[in-house]
Amino acid sequence: MVTSNPALDQLGGNRLAGLQELANRLRSDGAPLYDFAIGDPDEPTPDVIRRALIDAVGPVSRYPTAAGQPALRAAVAAWFGRRHGVDLDPDTEVVPSSGSKEAIFHLPLAVLDPHGPRRHVLWGEPGYPTYASGAVFAGGVSDPVTLTPEGGWRLSLTDLPAARLQRACIAWLNHPHNPTGATADVGWYREQVAVARAHDLLLVSDECYQEIWFDEPAPSLLEACDGDLRGVLAVVSLSKRSGMTGYRSGAIVGDPELIARLKVLRPHVGTASPDFVQSAAIAAWNDQTHVEERRGIFRAKREVLLDHLAEAGIEVSGSAATFYLWFRAPGGDDAAYAQALLRERIVASPGRAFGPGGAGWLRLALVPSVEGCRAAVAAWRAAIEAGRLPSD
Ligand SMILES: Cc1ncc(COP(=O)(O)O)c(C=O)c1O
Repeated sequence: MVTSNPALDQLGGNRLAGLQELANRLRSDGAPLYDFAIGDPDEPTPDVIRRALIDAVGPVSRYPTAAGQPALRAAVAAWFGRRHGVDLDPDTEVVPSSGSKEAIFHLPLAVLDPHGPRRHVLWGEPGYPTYASGAVFAGGVSDPVTLTPEGGWRLSLTDLPAARLQRACIAWLNHPHNPTGATADVGWYREQVAVARAHDLLLVSDECYQEIWFDEPAPSLLEACDGDLRGVLAVVSLSKRSGMTGYRSGAIVGDPELIARLKVLRPHVGTASPDFVQSAAIAAWNDQTHVEERRGIFRAKREVLLDHLAEAGIEVSGSAATFYLWFRAPGGDDAAYAQALLRERIVASPGRAFGPGGAGWLRLALVPSVEGCRAAVAAWRAAIEAGRLPSD
C-alpha cells in the first residue's frame, strides 16, 4: 500500500468545487446562469500584453531562471516605485513568481523550521486557504485568527496574546481582502510592523488585489516601513490587475535577506515562469492604461449590485475594494441563502467556504458583464417580491 501525506487528508480539496459543479450542471440546460462564484472575471487580456507574449515565442525554448529576467524585475520595481512610492532594488529586493498562489504556498518552505518552536502560521479567516496549505505542507501548523465585521475584517496582531505571536514564524495580511473586500491604511500597517518586529515574526502582505480599488488607492505594507524592509515582504500579482489569471505571473518583494533565501529555494521547486510569459508580464507592469479601464468596468458592475443590495435592505460589509461584495445572509444562514439563490439561477459563494468565520455572509464576485449583473439583479428582485428568498 503506497503511503499518503496526512496534510492532504487534513486540507481536503477545493472548498468551492461542489458549488462550481452544481453551477456547471445548471449551465448545461442552456438557460441563463448568473455566476458570481469564482474570482476569475472574463474580460479579455489587453492586446498589448497578448502581443508581447506572441512576439516573445521564439524557435528555441530554454529553461527560464527562478531569478527571472532582469527587465522583469526592473519593471516590477519601477511599478512599485510609481504606485507605492517605495524604492526597490530589482536585483536584491524582487523575485518573480508564477502568480501569487504558488509564491504563498512555497514561502513557508524558506522560513518554517518543522522541528523548531515557531511552527505556527497566522492568517485571518474567512480568508484565502493557501496560507494554511503552505503552512501544513511545510510541516507547520495553520493558526487562523477569526476576523469580524467589528474588527474591519482585519487580522490585527495588536489584539493577539504574546504567546500566540511567539509560537508563529509568519503572519499573513491580505488587503484588499478576499473574500470581504476590506481595506487597510498605512497607519494600521505601521502598527502591525511594530508588533511583528517586537516578536521577530515575518510579516507578509498578499497584495494581489492592490489595483482593484474604488475610492482611494490601496496602500502597500511596504509603505509603512519607511525604507527599512527587514522582516517584511509583499506578494503581488498580474492576475487581477491585468486579467492574466491564465498566464501565472507575479512577484515577491521586500527584505533582501529573505529574497536571497527565496532565490536559493525556488530553483528547487521549478516554478519559474516561461520567458514568453515574463515578456508579457513586462508589458503588463509597464502599462497602467488597461488597469484604469478594468477598474472602470468593475466599478460599473459593482454599482449595479450595490444599488440592488441597498434597495433590498441587505447589509454589505467590507467591500471597499477587490471585485468582491460581501453581504450578510438574509435569514442568517449563508448556505441556505446560496441554495435559494441557485434556484433563481444566481451563483454566490457561501461565506463558510472561506472558513467558519465567514458563516452568515456571502461573497459575490463581479464576474458577469454589466448586462449580466442587471439581469441577475432583476431575477433576484423578482424572487424577493415573490417571497421565494428568505428575508430577515
Ligand atoms: C487573496 C488571494 N491571494 C492570492 C490569490 C492567487 O492569485 P494568483 O495566483 O492568480 O496571483 C488569490 C486568487 O484568487 C487570492 O484571492
